[in-house]
Amino acid sequence: MASVYIDETAGSDLTGVGSQEAPYQSLAHALFTHGQSARVLVRKDPSAEYEEPTQSALKKAKKGADGLEKKRKKAEELAEAATVEREKRERLLEESKKIQLVEDATLPAAVKAKILSLTPLRGKRARVLGWVHRLRSQKDIIFIVLRDGTGYLQAVLSGTPAQTYEALTLTLESTVELIGTLQPTPEGKTAPGGHELIVDFWRTLGTAPGGDDAFTNRLNEKSDPSILADLRHLVLRGENASSVLRLRAAMLSAFRAALSDHHLMEVTPPCLVQTQVEGGATLFKLEYYGQPAFLTQSSQLYLETCLPSLGDVFCVQESFRAENSHTRRHLSEYTHLEAELAFITFDDLMDHIETIICETVDKLLQNESSAALIRQLNPSFTPPARPFKRLSYVDAIAWLNEHGILHEAEDADGNVIKDASGEPTMVPHAIGDDIAEAAERKMTDIIGTPIFLHSFPAELKAFYMKKKEGTTTPPATAGSGGRSGIFTESCDLLMPGVGEIVGGSMRIADIDELLAAYKREGIDPAPYYWFTDQRKYGTCEHGGYGLGVERFLAWLANRYTIRECTLYPRWPGRATP
Ligand code: 4AD
Repeated sequence: MASVYIDETAGSDLTGVGSQEAPYQSLAHALFTHGQSARVLVRKDPSAEYEEPTQSALKKAKKGADGLEKKRKKAEELAEAATVEREKRERLLEESKKIQLVEDATLPAAVKAKILSLTPLRGKRARVLGWVHRLRSQKDIIFIVLRDGTGYLQAVLSGTPAQTYEALTLTLESTVELIGTLQPTPEGKTAPGGHELIVDFWRTLGTAPGGDDAFTNRLNEKSDPSILADLRHLVLRGENASSVLRLRAAMLSAFRAALSDHHLMEVTPPCLVQTQVEGGATLFKLEYYGQPAFLTQSSQLYLETCLPSLGDVFCVQESFRAENSHTRRHLSEYTHLEAELAFITFDDLMDHIETIICETVDKLLQNESSAALIRQLNPSFTPPARPFKRLSYVDAIAWLNEHGILHEAEDADGNVIKDASGEPTMVPHAIGDDIAEAAERKMTDIIGTPIFLHSFPAELKAFYMKKKEGTTTPPATAGSGGRSGIFTESCDLLMPGVGEIVGGSMRIADIDELLAAYKREGIDPAPYYWFTDQRKYGTCEHGGYGLGVERFLAWLANRYTIRECTLYPRWPGRATP
């Protein structure tokens, strides 16, 4: 009998054949392959001599070989079972091709309905069209959860409807037409809407692929964020993504209703503009019939011009910001809900913003379907208590310093000053500092309620903001370095978890003050003639605000990023799909 060779270091159970040139690695494998009575020779490594194994090593290896044999048998059984199963399925599929499903003409005509409006059809025959959202086969019954955008419907296929070739090869995300009797869900069972469709006739309208190209292979919970972004059109079919968009629609309706209750009229300003609102740094520039133009940053200036003709106005319009911000609360294009009110004071403005937000939330909670969406997406949501905390910028600086929230020191050119180890030097806040996003968020999260942060220094805010009375002398606490001590009637509304969701202010009403502001900011007044005319032909004290729709929704629906809160988000480098 030829010897079987094992080298415990250099051998291989995978590629070895048991020869001296190609030894195995384990004794167990050698016995499993050549039988337990094979003549075996073992060495520790190529530098040692081949020897007969000890009795105890042999005993141990025999046990190992038994284990391997058991494994082999099991694998063989499984493979056999799989073959049987495959052949059975092939036979079944072949048989199924002969089964024809025919609609029973003696049954009452089915009423076509959307899933949302099925309830009145209980006990009757209904015809529903949609996408296969979930699919499960159990013995001879197929359960489908159908989705049509208005809701989800459980459908049960049994008997002939479950035996056709179409039924056996049905895939997720295919479109189908289902006809059957709508029955209340049996006692002890639950289904969306409390009923299920007992299907007697159905057909596939559009088959979605199975196999490698199946929906669940293109996309699943573990998919990479960049894949999810590329496949946003498919992500939207998911329950959470579609619920967020459904809540967004309800939220916009509620905002419109609340604003209309307060006699604001909706207008639709243009997106293509030739003036800036929030500074040149974030403008998307484009060529417009040979002239420079921009995508709008804010519709505020246009809303101001509507006051004398339409009274208080609002708009829901896209705004564009060319910010290189990759944060979870910045988009390059976002939906901006802006409003403008005439003959008001700064306090009126903050009262109005608070009222609109609270009434919008109340409307959403009073409506059964939007309340259900909020419960689903943000189970611990509680409406904010009124009145909202109001904190002046100067008091906020003091609050940050009292709470040890520091910021990065900067030199005169705005560069971060670093210490010997390269870490930024952290210093207390001083009047005149822009409160950085991180500090603002820390403060908002510690305070834990909505905060109106108001009366910012003029240097930090846009050219059009009204000065606060009596702030032309620097306050005692003013920091160094050319701070004017001029504060503005401006406010940001900060929400826990998200940060700033609203920016608003009173506007300069006086024409000379506005002309001076253009000059100070180096803005050419010529293209702003229409905005200036606003002050020329019957000026008025007025103010307004812009609310970031995606940020508000992120707060309401407790989303981690506002990228989830819009249909197809745009951020630096991303404009697809
Ligand atoms: O504070 P902002 O820049 O104010 C204005 O544009 C004013 N002209 C609005 C007005 O008074 N009519 O922007 C207002 C709000 C912010 O509070 C924020 O919620 C949102 O717009 N926002 C953004 N949302 C998403 N991505 C961005 N890049 C945003 N920039 C501002």
